[in-house]
Amino acid sequence: MPSPPLHVLVYRADDPKPWAALIRAPRGRVQIHAAGTPDEAVRVAADVDVVFGWKVPSTLYEKATRLRWLQTMGAGVDWALVPELPARVVVTRVPGVFGPWMAEYVLGWCAHVTQRVDAYRAAQRDRRWLDSLLPARLGGTTLAIIGLGDIGRTIARGARALGMRVVGVSRTGAAVGGVERVHRVRDVRRALAVADWVVLTVPLTAATRGLVGAGELAAMKPGAWLLNIARGAVVDEAALLDVLRRRAIAGAVLDVFATEPLPPEHPLWTLDNVVVTPHVAGPDVPEEIVPLFTENLGRFVAGRPLRHVVDRRRGY
Ligand code: GLV
Repeated sequence: MPSPPLHVLVYRADDPKPWAALIRAPRGRVQIHAAGTPDEAVRVAADVDVVFGWKVPSTLYEKATRLRWLQTMGAGVDWALVPELPARVVVTRVPGVFGPWMAEYVLGWCAHVTQRVDAYRAAQRDRRWLDSLLPARLGGTTLAIIGLGDIGRTIARGARALGMRVVGVSRTGAAVGGVERVHRVRDVRRALAVADWVVLTVPLTAATRGLVGAGELAAMKPGAWLLNIARGAVVDEAALLDVLRRRAIAGAVLDVFATEPLPPEHPLWTLDNVVVTPHVAGPDVPEEIVPLFTENLGRFVAGRPLRHVVDRRRGY
């Protein structure tokens, strides 16, 4: 007798359909549902074995008594690890996809600073030949990468290719190829103190919430830039505003914030030493992410172990 189909719910508040359309599943074995609102999701919850989603509403779980696997669509799983998620549900994440995007974001914005883009563009508007100002080299400067998972390591490779010196911080402090010195989290200030650029790539967990506070910002060099592509809550935003206003660090490139979208009245919008981008450093592209889900779905259907399983206790 053929086994009943597995029910997969694809959930995203923007539009789940392009994601659902790309899933390749064994014929007749999988039924796919797409939902873009909590109500739509709750309506099919009772049948659902698998959720493939982003910011899935936790109201689903009470009704989803068959649910056994949640595959996330993005890099961070902080939104997924809520107390309502039953312990039996395996959570898997998406490695390998976001590092190349984020490396280009980080190195692009570092080069924006060293190539004096703002100054030359402003001079151009005034038809002014600004030859008193020269670009600076990225090569020879030091990048501290706080979080050496696959994203941090990909950024490290790009930075090394440009001749930058790379130091880093990880939970274990274990050596990483191409990273000159890896510190444990408790020694984060040592990495911050030597860096011209600090990029945050840690997952948001109980251990990293508020990791960069007033003391850490004070450890940074006055000429250094902070780039946050992790989560807003990793940084104490009030302390950051204070050092930026006093120019105790040179500036910040911020893709993530305590509150998103960044409210129009927020002072970070107005500082000339801050770049604000709208949480776009690692875009979710269905063509890149769905193949990972499809591969794991094949394993799930065959009863084989899933890849990229999140350690729920560790938080990533
Ligand atoms: C976006 O922030 C993501 O975690 O993918």
